[in-house]
Amino acid sequence: MDQFRGYQCSICGSDYAPGEVQYVCPKDGGNLNVILDYEAIRKNFTIEDITSRTDFSLWRYLPLLPVADPGGQNTPLRQAGWTPTYRPAGLAEPLGLRQLWVKDEGRNPSASFKDRASSVVVARARQIKAEVVVTASTGNAGAALAGMAAAVGQKAVIFAPRTAPPAKIAQLLIYGAQVILVDDNYDAAFDLAIEAAQEFGWYCRNTGYNAFTAEGKKTAAFEIWETVLLGQDQLHRPLTVFIPVGDGNIISGIHKGFKDLQALGWLGQMPRLIGVQSEGSAAIANAYFAHTEEIQPVEADTVADSISVDLPRDGIRAVRAATQTGGAYLTVPDEEIIAGIAALGRVGIFAEPAGATAYAGLLKGLREGLVTPDDPILVLNTGSGLKDIKAAMSAVKDAPVIKPTLAAVRQLLSA
Ligand SMILES: Cc1ncc(COP(=O)(O)O)c(C=O)c1O
Repeated sequence: MDQFRGYQCSICGSDYAPGEVQYVCPKDGGNLNVILDYEAIRKNFTIEDITSRTDFSLWRYLPLLPVADPGGQNTPLRQAGWTPTYRPAGLAEPLGLRQLWVKDEGRNPSASFKDRASSVVVARARQIKAEVVVTASTGNAGAALAGMAAAVGQKAVIFAPRTAPPAKIAQLLIYGAQVILVDDNYDAAFDLAIEAAQEFGWYCRNTGYNAFTAEGKKTAAFEIWETVLLGQDQLHRPLTVFIPVGDGNIISGIHKGFKDLQALGWLGQMPRLIGVQSEGSAAIANAYFAHTEEIQPVEADTVADSISVDLPRDGIRAVRAATQTGGAYLTVPDEEIIAGIAALGRVGIFAEPAGATAYAGLLKGLREGLVTPDDPILVLNTGSGLKDIKAAMSAVKDAPVIKPTLAAVRQLLSA
């Protein structure tokens, strides 16, 4: 079934047919929302048709996606999503929280949330017979694209800042993408990827610029709906979701997912979406605080490299994800992000700095009364701690080194 109807600009509201445009709105550069045929979906599928599927990946939601089945049942392209959602008592109890979930996106094939976007974009690339897919990336989006592309024999080119954490650069290289490190920041890589796509006829995956990234990311909302909201009958209050924000495409994608479910009549209460940015990279939060949708660039500088962005590329929809859901934005300093890595680690969840940002946001939200311990809360860890070992090591003390004798162990234990 082809449920893809076209696009609508998030700024001017112009409608476009599927083949009419490829990226952002030609009139004003606005991010495009993908329009689905909700009536046809409702006619052909029930909630049970979806939830009874035995496909435990994001592709269980294929009827709600604007792409065809990517096939190749055993490729990583098909294995993104359906990440675990834990209920860590070790975090909830000390905070007095009644209901806390942590969804661990580090469990995706390339160890970050970005696998969702990249698998759907690669499926789209196959459909339109793109020869080469290019993206700019702080590391994770590129690793996800490189991995997905490798799995299906698709050529990929990745532009990343030369300062990206070595683990992420290693992933890009190991997956065999053409890796081009830019002697500048993510924003410069972003613009260069668009220019190169135009010049060489490549298909551009850039976050937000390509409407299919949000379509992949919305599948996290479907999973939250299926595993938390449907599973809990009726929550006594709306679920509050804490989401780390850089370009703003994860939060706008998750918002789109919940909106799709509401359009289908499958979701009652809209969850509150709270975007969390690092104080050192807070262009979207700044706009939210100023009650405007006009995003002013900043000079980003934060330990959370994945959310270090001067000019977010999905800012307007990201602001709306908070304002339209009764949510909010918060900013947290790098020290609290690093402390968040250690706190999540102590309950068995290893987060990279960007992922721990959401948890740091929860703590601040509780302190500021933005949420109460009575609220059902979900925190999204968007990436594995193995992505950035330097940051992880700054969250803990070095381990002691001893001679291999029991006497040395005794001495250490009694110190
Ligand atoms: C681990 C991680 N968390 C959060 C984000 C932020 O997502 P977005 O840029 O869509 O706001 C990213 C983006 O690269 C990421 O890799």
